[in-house]
Amino acid sequence: MTLHYQAAVLNEARSSLRVETVAAAPLAPSDVLVGVRAAGLCHTDLEVIDGSLGYPMPIVLGHEAAGVIEDVGSAVQRLKKGDHVILSWNPHCGHCYYCDRGLPILCEDYLAKGPQAVQFDGTCKARHASGEELKHLMFLGAFGEYCIVPEQQAIAVTRDIPFDRASLIGCGVMTGVGAALNVARIGRADTVMVIGCGAVGLAAVQGARLAGAAKIIAVDIDADKLALAQRMGATQGVNAKKEEIAAIARRETSGRGADVVIEAAGSAAAFRTSIEAVRPGGELVWLGKIDINTDVTFRWGALMQEKRIRRSSYGEARPARDFPMLAQAYLDGRLMLDELITQRIRLDAINQGFSALRDGKAIRSVITFG
Ligand SMILES: NC(=O)c1ccc[n+]([C@@H]2O[C@H](COP(=O)([O-])OP(=O)(O)OC[C@H]3O[C@@H](n4cnc5c(N)ncnc54)[C@H](O)[C@@H]3O)[C@@H](O)[C@H]2O)c1
Ligand SMILES: [Zn+2]
Ligand SMILES: [Zn+2]
Repeated sequence: MTLHYQAAVLNEARSSLRVETVAAAPLAPSDVLVGVRAAGLCHTDLEVIDGSLGYPMPIVLGHEAAGVIEDVGSAVQRLKKGDHVILSWNPHCGHCYYCDRGLPILCEDYLAKGPQAVQFDGTCKARHASGEELKHLMFLGAFGEYCIVPEQQAIAVTRDIPFDRASLIGCGVMTGVGAALNVARIGRADTVMVIGCGAVGLAAVQGARLAGAAKIIAVDIDADKLALAQRMGATQGVNAKKEEIAAIARRETSGRGADVVIEAAGSAAAFRTSIEAVRPGGELVWLGKIDINTDVTFRWGALMQEKRIRRSSYGEARPARDFPMLAQAYLDGRLMLDELITQRIRLDAINQGFSALRDGKAIRSVITFG
């Protein structure tokens, strides 16, 4: 029997999402049916809504989610009904050029099928009432009561972590903590600067703390976010509207500049600042995004002196390893997630949730189901 459920559908860019009844595709042997319990509203969803990321439509967005396994395909081995899971948006084939080299984020199937918003085998996992296929963002499409994904994208975690907190681990938290713990090589005497203290940047601040950085300088243009960054482990907060950031990086490091700068603001100004603020031979991790066809200019001299720039998607996530670790860090009190949730909303308030994200009012709005 076909499963029908409510999902928020984007029919065209720059329009409102519409909550509609949709029909689920039959489960493929390696698929699992996830009852979504919480889904965070992330900037990437907003970029699709606002038209700066082009995707085929109609589409179900939502790629930061947690839920319960409701059913499993005939070939599923690792998961069973009732398991609590966090969803990963980086499926990978495991045997292409990049997978063989330990770079699942560059998996050839992942990169080829991602922009088409279909699964690796070209299928979609839900249909409109009209029969039209619905695309899904980042191999998920989690803004609905259910979501069908291949087994590898659902990572079982302890039942002790609440779904709303768990959902954040699936994108923003993984990306930010991963930038600090997996991508950057942060040493114990290091000064780390994090530019942009939204969900991703606040997670990066916490990652720098977990990595044992000596000084963590948080930068934002919003005083409340700077205060929160300091609660989460920043040793100081600096307002980019009021202070010269690179000068502060040098002042705190005997004139050298920060050992590591993590950019999580997603603005050309922040990319430029990050390069000016890092020391010679230092490490830059860029997480933010701007329109992909926009040029960004840099002062050439700032790029010199052996600086290493890495633009990372997903903070070198290894979801099966990292999601349970991050869930445990939350339960142990080492990773603050409660403070990242500005509001919990129902699916039918999703457009207001995106307005709050657009206006910079919300760190994370999380849709809760059930
Ligand atoms: N690389 C990835 O895999 C990945 C994953 C998720 C999100 N992102 C991107 O990371 C960025 C951050 O995501 P988010 O959800 O935390 O967004 P957000 O909008 O909640 O946070 C951005 C923060 O940067 C601050 N900011 C803006 N301009 C600034 C400036 N010039 N200097 C200092 N701070 C500034 C804002 O006040 C805000 O607090 C976005 O660009 C998003 O698209 C990347
Ligand atoms: Zn995201
Ligand atoms: Zn691959």
